[in-house]
Amino acid sequence: MATTAQIGVTGLAVMGRNLARNFARKGYSVALHNRTAARTRELVAQYGEEGAFVPTGNPAEFVAALERPRRLVVMVKAGGPTDSVIREFAPLLEPGDMIVDGGNAHFADTRRRERELRGRGIHFVGTGISGGEEGALHGPSIMPGGSVESYAALGPMLEEVAAKAADGSPCVTHIGPDGSGHFVKTVHNGIEYADMQLIGEAYQLLRDVAGYSPARIADVFREWNTGRLDSYLVQITADVLSHRDAATGKPFVDVVEDRAEQKGTGRWTVQIALDLGVPVSSIAEAVFARSLSGHADLRAASRALPGPGARPLDEAGAAAFARQVEQALYASKIVSYTQGFHEIAAGSAEYGWDVDLGAVAAIWRNGCIIRAAFLDRIRAAYDARPGLPSLLGDEGFAGEIGAAQDDWRAVLVAATRQGVPVPGFAAALAHYDALRAERLPAALTQGQRDYFGAHTYRRVDRSGSFHTVWGGDRSEVDA
Ligand code: 6PG
Repeated sequence: MATTAQIGVTGLAVMGRNLARNFARKGYSVALHNRTAARTRELVAQYGEEGAFVPTGNPAEFVAALERPRRLVVMVKAGGPTDSVIREFAPLLEPGDMIVDGGNAHFADTRRRERELRGRGIHFVGTGISGGEEGALHGPSIMPGGSVESYAALGPMLEEVAAKAADGSPCVTHIGPDGSGHFVKTVHNGIEYADMQLIGEAYQLLRDVAGYSPARIADVFREWNTGRLDSYLVQITADVLSHRDAATGKPFVDVVEDRAEQKGTGRWTVQIALDLGVPVSSIAEAVFARSLSGHADLRAASRALPGPGARPLDEAGAAAFARQVEQALYASKIVSYTQGFHEIAAGSAEYGWDVDLGAVAAIWRNGCIIRAAFLDRIRAAYDARPGLPSLLGDEGFAGEIGAAQDDWRAVLVAATRQGVPVPGFAAALAHYDALRAERLPAALTQGQRDYFGAHTYRRVDRSGSFHTVWGGDRSEVDA
């Protein structure tokens, strides 16, 4: 077979298929491979006229069809299937070739795979791809990690197929070495969970406290989507809320079981943050809220517990409350992005990746699930001050939170009084207040630890470590 293909895609389920079509539509010749050959045939039968596809029937044919250095994109389920594909293909590759893993892999797996393949001269490019099926076809946001050489060979092609931001720049950048691309994608998903949870809380407040119908709430979200909350997730929220179930005529949200599922990237974001010691409380609350929703038996057993119920407001009160909810949602969103960017900065420092946070914000401006007007502001904040310790240190965001906080607090008071759970809003505000606090009760925690475990403490007025002899004369000794 002639070695004609510039890139190859193995794993032709919907994401792989659409990505292969995207490359072909941009004028690249694309080798195709799938474990079951029927999928390859189907793709060519349905979309063959979109571009130059080179269908292949087995790994050897697939590899032989690729021009060198080979660019082999793997679009299979993360975990074991990725390792199987690597085991199958790596022996057929030569030094300088690239294996691009476009799945949602755990960054630690990507680091391991990159190390192993580097030893054989093969570039392993762990790549986050966000945007779902539509994004894969029309332009996703792409987060490739791996070597500088691999980006030189692959970057121009990725720039062609990626989404474009409003200023025309492609939503792809070389994130950094080894697992950095998958790390950044994981945190993207953690932020996605937080965004979805915060939007969900705003919805529930508008429903229970403002007394609005789903269709009316859809209108509120549509209006918010014309302002600073302009984002894909707010836009689709309005669509979901205005949808009526064909079978019953009821609002779609009222016929769907309220048990949120997850594939695990939000959980990874929190697990990794725990290991790095980064407080990502609003992302964590989003993960916990999904898991709580799934405990149907526990919820059924707890439904009769005492507590207030919501008392919907009158029309004028509801309109005023809706404006306050917008403030609370926006302020909480700033905090959850602050937490996510903190996690990326911490991962970058821990693993020596040198991730450019402004560039990450820039490539999330379009194509990905959390795409939002807001991300251009984050990009600008990091571009203006590359060493910005926290997004809340940016004057613009700090000013907006300052202006929003009275309403944010009022919304939390109303939610608490009426028994509406808002863990995301509450965690975000607690994070903000903890950062502002002159003194935290952590001093007391240190005293308790020293009391029961002689774990020692530091003093505000002298250097060194100290221990108080709690069980004796309570004298203080150097520790
Ligand atoms: C994206 C999405 C994508 C996927 C999530 C869904 O960026 O395109 O995040 O990766 O839809 O994994 O995650 P859950 O199933 O965990 O909600």
